[in-house]
Amino acid sequence: MTRTALVTGANRGIGASIAKGLATQGLRVIAAVRDLASAEKTLNGIRKVGGEALAVEFDAGEPGSIRACVAALERDGEQVDVLVNNAGILEGERLLDMDEAGVLRSVQINALGPLLLIRLLAPGMVKRGYGRIVNMSSGWGSLEDLGPGAYGVSKALLNAITVKTAEELPACVKVNAMCPGWVNTQMGGTSAPRTPQQGADTAIWLAMLADDAPSGAFFRDRKKIGWDD
Ligand SMILES: NC(=O)c1ccc[n+]([C@@H]2O[C@H](COP(=O)([O-])OP(=O)(O)OC[C@H]3O[C@@H](n4cnc5c(N)ncnc54)[C@H](OP(=O)(O)O)[C@@H]3O)[C@@H](O)[C@H]2O)c1
Repeated sequence: MTRTALVTGANRGIGASIAKGLATQGLRVIAAVRDLASAEKTLNGIRKVGGEALAVEFDAGEPGSIRACVAALERDGEQVDVLVNNAGILEGERLLDMDEAGVLRSVQINALGPLLLIRLLAPGMVKRGYGRIVNMSSGWGSLEDLGPGAYGVSKALLNAITVKTAEELPACVKVNAMCPGWVNTQMGGTSAPRTPQQGADTAIWLAMLADDAPSGAFFRDRKKIGWDD
C-alpha cells in the first residue's frame, strides 16, 4: 500500500531533502508550499527517480490558507498518512525587542500552524488506523537553551504541542519532534556543518516508524533525547 506524505516547506532546505527522501522510500509526496512555482525543482527531482509528487498552496502563517489547503486535498480525494511539519522561520534577536506582529508570526508559523494541520489531518489518520506526524523542532526549543527572539519560544511551544497531541491521539498515530542539528540552508547559513540530507535523515526515519515505536518523544540522529537536550 502506497502511503502519502504531506511535507510543509518542501521547496527548499531540509524540507526538500525530506520530500526527496520519502519519495525514495516509496511514499507519494505532497509538497505544501507558499509559492507553487518554487516547488518545481523538488517535484522534478522526485519524478526523475520515478516518484510521485504534487504541490499544494499553503501558508503556515495563515489559518485560512491551511484550512483551504486541507479542504482542497479532501476535495481531490487525497488521504494524508504522514505529516511533516517542517516549514519554519527564524526571526529576531531579543524577544523583548520584537514587535507584536513578529512574535505572532513566529508562533503562528512554527507552532500554531503545525497544530492546526494536526487538528485537521489527524482525524483521518485515526479513522484509517495509521498516522505518522513529525514536528521539526530544534535544540533551541529547550528551556535550558532557548533560541533567539521568538524562535526558541515557538519551538518550545511546538515541543509542548508534540507531547500533548501524542497524549490525546491513539497509539496508531505517532507524533514526535526532532532536531536536525545545525544545517547548511538559508536559515542555518553556510558555516553550518550538516547537509540538508543529513538534517532530513531523522525526519524520514520518524515518518516511517514501526507500530511499536514511541510517540510524544524528541529525537536527534535517530536517538531519543531529553526535552532539554
Ligand atoms: N537549518 C538549521 O540549522 C535548523 C536547525 C534546527 C531546526 N531547523 C528547522 O528546520 C526547518 C527547516 O529549516 P531550513 O533550515 O530548511 O530553513 P530554510 O531553508 O529557511 O527553509 C524554510 C522553509 O520553510 C518555508 N516557510 C517559511 N515560512 C513559511 C510559511 N509562512 N508558510 C509555508 N512555508 C513557509 C520556506 O518556504 P519559502 O521558500 O516560501 O520561504 C522554506 O521552504 C525549520 O522548521 C527550522 O526551524 C533548522
